[in-house]
Amino acid sequence: MSASATHAPSEGKATVAIASDHAGPELKAVIAAQLREAGFPVLDLGTDGAASVDYPTFADAVAAALADGRAGLGVLICGTGIGISIAANRHRHVRAALCHSPTDARLTRLHNDANVLVLGARTTGIEVAKDCVATFFSTEFEGGRHARRVAMLG
Ligand code: RB5
Repeated sequence: MSASATHAPSEGKATVAIASDHAGPELKAVIAAQLREAGFPVLDLGTDGAASVDYPTFADAVAAALADGRAGLGVLICGTGIGISIAANRHRHVRAALCHSPTDARLTRLHNDANVLVLGARTTGIEVAKDCVATFFSTEFEGGRHARRVAMLG
């Protein structure tokens, strides 16, 4: 996808900032490899080990990368995806969508112009997660009536 082609284009693709808490490094590595394979530059903001960390820190890191232009889109992972979604959506420029299916991923790009895909490492299997990624990063915002609603978000 072009992701509005606003950030660091490499072959026209936006840089994707990716981060997880300690529940998600394994899934993060799989998703980062998938994104690189698909031609997206990836900015990996950690965490990389099993040591317990705090998910808001990593949501904030991806939000900062989106705000300062180092990335145009993001992926966040925690155990359920819930805590890190709540944290990410505290930032007005972030529209983080927790997805459990490719249908969620498709509709949140089409209707919400979501700029951060959130996955639950303990609640979503790897193959489904990869399908969510493939769909999210290949679906364009539909605009139209949805643009008005997205503008109302802030
Ligand atoms: C960490 O144990 C866990 O609470 C976190 O990954 C996440 O699921 C929170 O929403």
